[in-house]
Amino acid sequence: MNKKFLGILIVIVFAVFTTGCHVPPRSFVERQLVGSEESVDYEHQKDNTQLVIGDINSKPGTVAPTTTPSTTTSNSTTSIASETTTPTSLPSTTTTPTSTPSITTTSTSSASTPTNTQLTYSRPPATADASGCQTMFVGLPEYAEGAKIVSLTFDDGPRPDTTGPLLDILKTYNVKATFCMVGWRIQGNEALVKRMVDEGHLLCNHSWDHPNLTELTDEEVIEQITKTDNAIYQATGLKAPLIRPPYGAYDDNTNALIDKPVLMWNLDTRDWESRDTDEILDKINSEIKSGDCLLFHDIYEPSVEAVRILIPQLMNQGYVFVRTDELLTADGTPLTNGHVYHQAPILPEPTSTTGIVAQVNE
Ligand code: NI
Repeated sequence: MNKKFLGILIVIVFAVFTTGCHVPPRSFVERQLVGSEESVDYEHQKDNTQLVIGDINSKPGTVAPTTTPSTTTSNSTTSIASETTTPTSLPSTTTTPTSTPSITTTSTSSASTPTNTQLTYSRPPATADASGCQTMFVGLPEYAEGAKIVSLTFDDGPRPDTTGPLLDILKTYNVKATFCMVGWRIQGNEALVKRMVDEGHLLCNHSWDHPNLTELTDEEVIEQITKTDNAIYQATGLKAPLIRPPYGAYDDNTNALIDKPVLMWNLDTRDWESRDTDEILDKINSEIKSGDCLLFHDIYEPSVEAVRILIPQLMNQGYVFVRTDELLTADGTPLTNGHVYHQAPILPEPTSTTGIVAQVNE
């Protein structure tokens, strides 16, 4: 009897002990998650400040006044406060069923538009230029000539559960965009970055961990750019041919240190602020015009949802999506290192009123 009882006791004690060893306290697991990718978000109040200061019509080489650093402290506070709400809105599974609804929208719109042009993209696959950067195109592709043009840019990624679905949407419509990436996020997401290149998107360096470059030493600025170039190179075999300084903050000194054209934007969707698909779309629809370079952040699900709706909508209004290098060099002038670009150069009024329908892949 005693032996039997002792045996049962030993089994119970063993079971409790081993279970306890392998399950860390829940709060610990959550902290690990929150402390990694989920918690890092960049407040873009400074982006907005810069946009107001920098004239959207400013020509290449124009340098915006450097009043941005003053907003630094309040930004970081807001960032922490707003980040707490983010993880709940990013269920990766809900974002995945992407392409089916989009395809339906396209075929419906093609039926209602009298004359449709099939959008085909025939640019060659990405190669490296003499400096090892992804080759940029100069000038518009033939199908975009004379049409209303627009280009999409995405900052602060890559983030698998939002950038992945976004790439699916872009692929569905054969739209080529620009991804301005922070180096630290590339680690572990190399396949996603390679996919961008394979699918014809343009690589852009957005620093290693998103500091205000104008507040760094020269050595630190160079390190921020070089580390990210290396991460992009390791993922793709190419370096990014463009840079977008975090917060849109640059000055004569940073531009002199940067051996790339500086990519800004002229239509901030303010997705970082609203985190709301309808608000993002309202903002775009009330401001968009031919030649615009749109700023999104591919780390927010509402931004991805906005793009899903926006692409067929704008195509039905006659807009053609071009890659950002094509948009900025639409007059045939190549980009220059250290010069700042916001939007397409001044072009003749668009003549085409034809509705453009995407080539649906798959
Ligand atoms: Ni950013």
